[in-house]
Amino acid sequence: MNRLDVRLGDRGYPIFIGAGVLLDRSRLREAVRGRQALVLTDSTVGPRYLPPVLAALDGLKVATITIASGEASKTLANAERVFTALADLGAQRNACLIALGGGVVGDLGGFAAALWMRGIDFVQIPTTLLAMVDSSVGGKTAVNLPHGKNLVGAFWQPRRVLADIDTLASLAEREYRAGLAEVVKYGAIRDESFLGWLKDNAAALIARSPDAIAYAVLRSCEHKAQIVENDERETGERALLNFGHTFGHALETLGRYEKWLHGEAVAIGMVMAARLSAHLGMAPLSDAHRLTDLLRRFELPVTADESPETMVELMRLDKKTLSDQLRLILWRGVGRAEVVENVAAQDIVACLHARE
Ligand SMILES: NC(=O)c1ccc[n+]([C@@H]2O[C@H](COP(=O)([O-])OP(=O)(O)OC[C@H]3O[C@@H](n4cnc5c(N)ncnc54)[C@H](O)[C@@H]3O)[C@@H](O)[C@H]2O)c1
Repeated sequence: MNRLDVRLGDRGYPIFIGAGVLLDRSRLREAVRGRQALVLTDSTVGPRYLPPVLAALDGLKVATITIASGEASKTLANAERVFTALADLGAQRNACLIALGGGVVGDLGGFAAALWMRGIDFVQIPTTLLAMVDSSVGGKTAVNLPHGKNLVGAFWQPRRVLADIDTLASLAEREYRAGLAEVVKYGAIRDESFLGWLKDNAAALIARSPDAIAYAVLRSCEHKAQIVENDERETGERALLNFGHTFGHALETLGRYEKWLHGEAVAIGMVMAARLSAHLGMAPLSDAHRLTDLLRRFELPVTADESPETMVELMRLDKKTLSDQLRLILWRGVGRAEVVENVAAQDIVACLHARE
């Protein structure tokens, strides 16, 4: 088992990564300071992984709340359900909320933990690859409104993250591969040698080799932790994590959140960002090809036939600007992402039209 520490002073916390983390009861039990714990999970994850979690909490006053699996559950109404469950439990300031599931459960649970009595302890037990490498670390929590995703939220760091890679065995193939896109992102934005490692170990990762997954999760969490340590509130470097995301959000919106999984849209978006970087003379086109080849190995989509003009309109909306200039995360080549101000909309459209 690997331990990694996120150094954020009195808000710092350990991340435990490995096979069988959930079976080691003390890892969870020692994170609970008070006598009450509420476990939030979803209808797919709960039946599979609640038993070891509840066993670890034996002797405490524990309640469980299960939401329907899927993005549609990340609502204020479900946050209210969590508050009601906390009230019924008699949860005090030292109570602990435990989120067992993917990013939906983690974002909703963190949001509720941030607000209950102005903030209680929160433990993340991520069970999707995306949640292990991204959403469970860094303290961004939110729920959606009909007007848009993640509009209501708070920064609230967990007290501990327990990433048991054994739980990934039951994850649907498409969800697993979408999570790999976020792993690739760390190599793309800041770690060329990790990108090389991913290429060399692509077959092992596709076969879900526990050793390969454990290393990929560890390395990804190291990157996420470093970025969050440098820029917890996203005033600078943390924005680099959005590489490919502005393009990706436009694709997700155009596909009504049904056509593409988030990681798939990010995979296409990263390729678009890399090609735009080449189009603007910032980076060699061969680096865009390297990234594309790697994503293809993971059987992720790398192109989309959505209209470039419509995409750029949506990207403007995403950035809340009517200007012809957009601020995007582009790169100077593999491992060297940067924020670029004033990218001309017409350059983006021209680049998207120039499909190879
Ligand atoms: N807070 C952040 O920093 C951050 C970062 C990235 C994404 N997010 C958020 O994360 C959410 C997406 O997360 P996600 O991709 O984990 O989605 P998710 O939580 O909806 O999980 C995807 C699906 O997999 C199922 N599942 C989860 N674990 C499983 C397992 N071990 N075995 C079988 N099925 C399992 C779920 O029930 C669900 O159907 C989005 O809401 C996004 O906004 C947050």
